Amino acid sequence: MAGRILIIGACGQIGTELTLKLREIHGNDQVVASDIRDGAKELMESGPFEILNATDETHIRQIINDYRVSEVYLMAAMLSATAEKAPMKAWHLNMDSLFHILNIAKEGIINKVFWPSSIAVFGPTTPKERTPQTTVMEPTTVYGISKQTGERWCEYYHRKFGVDVRSIRYPGIISYKTLPGGGTTDYAIEIFHEAIKNSSYKSFLAEDAALPMMYMDDAIKATVDIMQAPAEKIKIRSSYNLSAMSFTPEILASEIKKHIENFEISYEPDFRQSIAESWPSSINDSAAREDWGWKHEFDLEKLTGTMLEGVGETLKTTKN
Ligand code: SER
Repeated sequence: MAGRILIIGACGQIGTELTLKLREIHGNDQVVASDIRDGAKELMESGPFEILNATDETHIRQIINDYRVSEVYLMAAMLSATAEKAPMKAWHLNMDSLFHILNIAKEGIINKVFWPSSIAVFGPTTPKERTPQTTVMEPTTVYGISKQTGERWCEYYHRKFGVDVRSIRYPGIISYKTLPGGGTTDYAIEIFHEAIKNSSYKSFLAEDAALPMMYMDDAIKATVDIMQAPAEKIKIRSSYNLSAMSFTPEILASEIKKHIENFEISYEPDFRQSIAESWPSSINDSAAREDWGWKHEFDLEKLTGTMLEGVGETLKTTKN
């Protein structure tokens, strides 16, 4: 590889596992992790780590220069639920960080960028089932508006300046290693923790709130695959639809019951329910499958088994 990889937002739910995977592929010294705060011990000790505010352009440029970085993964963002509580702060973080990276790429200082988008780019007027790649997009959340705007700018920088930026519209990502931060899909992680600790869970989404979801390993695989694909295969430069499975809290609960018989779920929907209602129930990702060979591995059954085992182990270690 020409230079090192920099991950901004490396201590977050996806950033942590992405950093470890990229270190495994390219070597620990080749992957610089950065975040505004400290993260998991394994992440901070396995390779270079820098405290970095994703809106601080001068500092980003300095790190890119010092480490001879040629590829950036911009994972820092304020997610849907948190962003509703601090709209301007979310807009500032989500957009400014993206512009810094796109401009640095435009100047030819780095040559490849990954920037995640989300199912949040869709809104209540979007077709809900098997949502197509190209369709009506009228997002109603601050997070969704920032991601949709970001997609437009990514495509613009690619078309106008030849910036090699690649993006995926992540669905809800389920994992146990690092907790998620402020998303509407977070219930699907909390439920596993509560199922193991208390055999019960009070869901902040309604029983029939169907959302597109994906296990972390698949999300990481998609990220690595899209970045490794030859540039000519990446035909969409806004962001690719990506899908693995779709379920409601009720369906997830009945899958958990197969492992924990006395598990009980109750429902107390809050403001996040209306966010969920504005998003698709399922996604058509045929473009990603055709263009760069995307294929998922985890279905609901495999995800549930893996999560129960993983969360169980994590809880045991934290107790001891
Ligand atoms: N998981 C994210 C959220 O709920 C969706 O991109 O905000």
